[in-house]
Amino acid sequence: MDRTIQYKDILPKIKAIIDPKIDLIGNMANITAILNDAFKWHWIGFYRVLGNELVLGPFQGPVACTRIAFGKGVCGTSWKIKNTIIVTNVHEYAGHIACSAFSNSEIVVPFIQNNQVVAVLDVDSVLFDDFNEIDKLYLEQIVSYLNV
Ligand code: SME
Repeated sequence: MDRTIQYKDILPKIKAIIDPKIDLIGNMANITAILNDAFKWHWIGFYRVLGNELVLGPFQGPVACTRIAFGKGVCGTSWKIKNTIIVTNVHEYAGHIACSAFSNSEIVVPFIQNNQVVAVLDVDSVLFDDFNEIDKLYLEQIVSYLNV
């Protein structure tokens, strides 16, 4: 199915499930569940900024690295530059942190509040070159829904 259609289908579901009365964890968990249900990517999850590192948060998929330093890997770099990073081939990305041997491409979207990165959404695919500007557009929108 066309990925844009899939995103347009899940956007209202995600918006509706976000509960402003709970903390971030539950809302992040539901976002990963909906994304996993729709796309079946290899790994979908959040890392939260806790102190000077990223700490594993809600995710769907195999076990993953629990802590990532500022500026390290794709996630730590996304935190540092405050921007989404698309990696078409993780094996060619200097400093990529391999939590799973099956991951071949990746997208990391920062969640920014008051100009500070609070968390990042990380998605890994077994396919090479699985993410593009469409994913960036919609995943950034989805992450922004956490801003309640
Ligand atoms: N590949 C990430 C690490 C997190 S895992 O992919 C779940 C990185 O380089 O930051």
